[in-house]
Amino acid sequence: MIKYILIWFSLVFLGACGGNSEPKTQEEGNKMLEEAVKEGEKKEVHGTEVKEADIQITNPLDAKMVADGQSIYDSKCLSCHKLTDERIVGPGWKDVTKRRKPVWIMNMITNVDMMLAEDAEAQKLLEQCLVRMPNQNVTVADARSLLEFMRQNDGEK
Ligand code: HEC
Repeated sequence: MIKYILIWFSLVFLGACGGNSEPKTQEEGNKMLEEAVKEGEKKEVHGTEVKEADIQITNPLDAKMVADGQSIYDSKCLSCHKLTDERIVGPGWKDVTKRRKPVWIMNMITNVDMMLAEDAEAQKLLEQCLVRMPNQNVTVADARSLLEFMRQNDGEK
């Protein structure tokens, strides 16, 4: 009975993913099923890559963005990041806008998996912190507000 259920699952899954070849044996079917599931996992979206030209930095600071950034910080970032230079889980945010370019910060927020895979500076942080920052599903607009909040925290007006 279990054998038929497995085969049925294989067919349904592969059908749903538009699999093109029919499994000939049950073993082959299971393998294809496993691959189809892996393929599905890979397609997960990990934020949007931000380009330097898309970011506008203005003075004075945008008060609405600072306030929005603060409330996102309180709910999604505060448990791992202090506003001083003290590291808890992640590095403290004091002077982060002086250490990093806006485009780096925004990609770190929206696309941390890409940054940990490809960016040497992000990888150095991972070596120090030993914890991967989780993807927080922050939109580009929210990341921009967070950046404004960080600029205020670093004393910009
Ligand atoms: C579960 C803990 C955790 C949470 C929550 C978290 N971070 Fe992080 N963050 C880290 C760690 C750890 C690092 C260092 C890189 C690594 O190890 O992945 C980091 C690094 C960073 C950096 C680079 C800091 C530097 O000194 O260059 C930025 C910017 C950042 N996080 C922003 C955010 C923002 C914005 C949020 C909230 C939306 C957030 N983080 C939420 C753990 C966290």
